[in-house]
Amino acid sequence: MNTLLLGTSEEDINLAASFIKEGGVVGMPTETVYGLAANALDEEAVKRIFEAKGRPSDNPLIVHISDFEEIERFNLVSEVPRVAKLLADAFWPGPLTIIMPKSDNVPEITTGGLSTVAVRFPADKNAQRLIKAAGCPLAAPSANLSGSPSPTTANHVYSDMKGKIPAIIDGGECKVGLESTVVSIKDGVVTVLRPGGITAEDLMSVYERVEVCDAVLNKLKEGETALSPGMKYKHYSPNARVCLVKGSDRSFRDFVNKQDGSKTVALCYEEDKEHITIPTIVMGSKADLEAQAHNLFADLRHIDELEGVTCAYVRCPEAEGLGMAVLNRLIRAAGFEVINLEADDFKIIGLTGQSGAGKSTVSEVFEKLGAVVINADELAHAALKTEECKENLRLAFGGGIFDENGEVIRKALARAAFCSKENTEKLNRCTHPVIIELAKNEFDYYKRAGEKAVVFDAPTLFESGLNRLCSVVVSVIADKDLRAQRIMERDSLSFEDAYLRLNAQNDDKFYTEKSRYVIENNGTAEELIKKAEELSKELFDE
Ligand code: TXA
Ligand code: MG
Repeated sequence: MNTLLLGTSEEDINLAASFIKEGGVVGMPTETVYGLAANALDEEAVKRIFEAKGRPSDNPLIVHISDFEEIERFNLVSEVPRVAKLLADAFWPGPLTIIMPKSDNVPEITTGGLSTVAVRFPADKNAQRLIKAAGCPLAAPSANLSGSPSPTTANHVYSDMKGKIPAIIDGGECKVGLESTVVSIKDGVVTVLRPGGITAEDLMSVYERVEVCDAVLNKLKEGETALSPGMKYKHYSPNARVCLVKGSDRSFRDFVNKQDGSKTVALCYEEDKEHITIPTIVMGSKADLEAQAHNLFADLRHIDELEGVTCAYVRCPEAEGLGMAVLNRLIRAAGFEVINLEADDFKIIGLTGQSGAGKSTVSEVFEKLGAVVINADELAHAALKTEECKENLRLAFGGGIFDENGEVIRKALARAAFCSKENTEKLNRCTHPVIIELAKNEFDYYKRAGEKAVVFDAPTLFESGLNRLCSVVVSVIADKDLRAQRIMERDSLSFEDAYLRLNAQNDDKFYTEKSRYVIENNGTAEELIKKAEELSKELFDE
């Protein structure tokens, strides 16, 4: 079959309409993406759409109209729900598809055997003209081969449909670039089945009860049925492997720069480009979601046009506003493959050092500058109150270290544990696993709260293995005599007791070898504060 590329003159629109009247399929521009249009009420015509697209027959089509009144005139639905009317008034013509109970007039093939029909009134003038000229509602899925990125130019349609359909109307680039938002209405709740140009926030501005279907951003579980059949298929995929990468600007750039540039492309923001050393496809400026949506499908098609490229790493947008629609398409193009670099973005800064070295002062400086400080001593106290820890201690040290309420008597425990190295290690084996769990919970809490970093103040950071949870470690050290003097004053210790305690601790080398940053505190308190402030700039600013 010869495929005509038509313009938008009266004559061309009428020619396209005549193909449709004869039961044919035509490439139709809309403001979202190009559609493959045929008479929605003609079974044979609709069958041809499925054939041209290679689409599974249980995936229903959207029925396009050019006037709200046509719902009734073409007898498409058994009723127009009240909420559907409200949404239509607010967003039609436009990129919103509303699922309604179907009438018997609409053939089952159009709705994939469902008892509902999806209706959309597109804003694109040429689409409206074609519907009017054809004189029937037009069933139209996106005009791509099933599974491929949707077409946003007539050329995209041509490359997928050449020889399969008689004509394509070239209406230029699609404005929105992503398919319409599909919603269902049930028990007064509007559910977004597929996010698109009308965002969930837009819907909420005219109607309160809006929900987003789980399957929009999550893979369907085994055996789960899709509310919108289109959501169960891998979709929008280029041939190259597509993989979403979640993380900060810096972590994304570092990650892609480590990849092989002869096989890999980075789909990134305009702001990333100058920092990336492998080939890039720019999706738009970081804050310009409209541009990202508009370019998305062309960008995905572009990947396969790059010589030798077998893998694309794509920046992962936030699921807000139009970002949700972009993410919904990308995550399907990626077959749900997401690399999460966010763990690298959340910094746990370990802070340790010997008694009297000045660790607490540094911790106070960080806290004053706004950092969250988590204190390991406090976690150790909390650990002693957990059943797990108590059970461990009872087995290790017997019942003598508990009071009548079953709480640990800390002095008794200290006596039992610190009398020998062996017993100290025993104590550590009882408490450290619990402390580590508590620490992880704290870190998770602050990470979820959106903190970029926490300081973890722990005197025995290395000895407990808690350093392994940290991204970097800062050690504070000082000359032994100075430390002795400080703890004598601070804790009212005798000279002998002070040295006894310090002798049990590790030397400077132990700390300097294991730490990324070392603060030497052999001067005044002011000097120490200044050093801590200097370091904080490096630690907390990206
Ligand atoms: O923007 C658009 O909607 C484009 C242009 C051409 O209008 N069309 C489009 O159609 O994207 P298509 O077939 O690629 O996607 C239609 C989506 C599918 O996910 C399908 O499963 C869902 O809408 N759908 C259609 N009828 C439905 C129904 N009765 N119930 C639930 N989902 C339905
Ligand atoms: Mg589609």
